[in-house]
Amino acid sequence: MAASFGVCRLRFRSLGGFDRFYLGLETQTQRRLTATISAIKVQAGNNTVTKAKENKTFQAIQEERREQAQRSVLISCPPRFNENKFLDYLSNHGTIKKHFFYSSYGTYAVVEFSSKESIASLKESTNLPAVEHEAAVPFKSRLLSLKWPGSQLNNQPLPPLQEHSHPSIGDISQLLLEKDSIDEQLQCLTEALQLTEENISLRFLVCSLLGDIAGAYFPECIIRPFGSTVNSFGKLGCDVDMILDLDGIYATSQKKVSGLSLEYQVKRGASERAVTQSILSVIGKCVDQFGPGCVGVQNILQARCPLVRFSHQPSGFQCDLTANNRVAVKSSELLLLYGQLDPRVRHLVFSVRYWARVHGITSSIPGAWITNFSLTVMVVFFLQQRSPPILPTLDRLTELAGPSDKCVIDGNDCTIVSDLSKITLQKNTDTSAKLLQEFFEFYGNFPFNKASINIRKGKEQTKPEATALHIQNPFETTLNVSKNVNVTQLERFVKLCQESAWLFQKSEILNRSSSQSAESVSPWGFSALLLPSVTSGAAVKSRRKRKLEPASLRIKNLLDSLKIKGVETVAKKGSADPSR
Ligand code: GTP
Ligand code: MG
Repeated sequence: MAASFGVCRLRFRSLGGFDRFYLGLETQTQRRLTATISAIKVQAGNNTVTKAKENKTFQAIQEERREQAQRSVLISCPPRFNENKFLDYLSNHGTIKKHFFYSSYGTYAVVEFSSKESIASLKESTNLPAVEHEAAVPFKSRLLSLKWPGSQLNNQPLPPLQEHSHPSIGDISQLLLEKDSIDEQLQCLTEALQLTEENISLRFLVCSLLGDIAGAYFPECIIRPFGSTVNSFGKLGCDVDMILDLDGIYATSQKKVSGLSLEYQVKRGASERAVTQSILSVIGKCVDQFGPGCVGVQNILQARCPLVRFSHQPSGFQCDLTANNRVAVKSSELLLLYGQLDPRVRHLVFSVRYWARVHGITSSIPGAWITNFSLTVMVVFFLQQRSPPILPTLDRLTELAGPSDKCVIDGNDCTIVSDLSKITLQKNTDTSAKLLQEFFEFYGNFPFNKASINIRKGKEQTKPEATALHIQNPFETTLNVSKNVNVTQLERFVKLCQESAWLFQKSEILNRSSSQSAESVSPWGFSALLLPSVTSGAAVKSRRKRKLEPASLRIKNLLDSLKIKGVETVAKKGSADPSR
């Protein structure tokens, strides 16, 4: 389920953004950059709606968005058309509540009607395409194409298009350099990367479109998003994790009866896993053969959590569809709750996740890397360790739960409080910058060899098994969410934490120099932590050699490399692209 490349994502090799930015830009590039940065700034200011939803429960927010998606259509538009005429045409079918345009591979419109009946009316008047040399699968979905008479295309104004791909590292760097403090940088990073309201709506719409396909087999099913789409830590460009929720079917079928009754005849599978695999394989095939815009469908059914992976081209999203994975949805609810409790949580999670991606600690390819989910749990655990703690333990969230919060999934108690007003937070005034520094110090010195990270207790526990990194799964407590991580990857993480903690102590690196002119600002503050590390190549050296290299030498090398005319030298060493 790790985020992978999306079809509309930008790809940067090395520190491309840094190179171009620091080594001088051509005027045309500067103009483009300025436009992108302005767009990011607008986006940062537009996220008030997300804040307004903060007091609602997880279920209420999900239900509201799901219902909006059911009243929406996705329309591919020609490059030029008249927005007003287009909206007038659609208004014949009912009141339009919201709409926006975005560019992916082409121009698309998301149109939300006030009532579901409008969708039926619109579909009624929509034609199947006339295909000449091929044949069309007559599947009538809510993904439509606007046909605009060719003679009327010229001289039509362009509608305002939103950009749903993430900002490049160069754009982010420039934004960060304009800030006055690290705290401001961390807030700015969060706002520039986070999902916009429209992007979230589009994600729910894609789930809803997929639900129409799965609904052909299981009419009461719901396709729900989970993971970073809904946990408040999603970055523009992250994957859409979806679950095929069949609970509605089971719930309506388990009626208590006394006396005469009927029962559905059903096929049986050898196990729940076998049934999940069989359902996903059929839906995967259906998505592949009938799902408009769905390409590159892969059935990954032998994974611990079987899934169907595909790209949804009109939205540019990579999608992972799972089934029977309710614990993961509950984990998303838990992370959302933690993210809502204090703004510093999201600043820290976004900055740590970005820092890790830039340094290749996390990856879009499955492997022995630390995942974003594990990193987020590590941030939560760290914040539970502060004095006084910034976040409550998971046990505390269970204690505060009311009767309606009770939730047991496959024998695991997944109960957490849904009413945030019941949670009393202690007063901790540490700044986000200080917390980030201490995060690096904390994990740079953490006894990973013997201790397990446990957010349920909010305390280190003795490691129950001999894996490199042990992070107890919050709800399935016998599982380790970082079982895949090997010693090499853990060592890289620890060294980078040590290096970043050390950089935090160097005022010449961490503070903005007032003597620098706007044209020659060297990376400072959080930007300095994104520069290639002198230890990042350590993974390829032999372990023995690394042990012989004293930490002081590594740090001296790093300082020297940072001092050589800003980033000129270090940029050439290359780094991972955080955008994937
Ligand atoms: P991105 O990297 O932005 O996609 O972050 P993400 O949080 O969406 O992570 P990912 O797509 O890898 O996984 C989706 C969700 O599945 C997570 O948010 C968790 O809720 C859950 N999840 C991921 N890995 C594990 C795991 O090892 N154990 C459990 N129980 N849940 C997991
Ligand atoms: Mg994900």
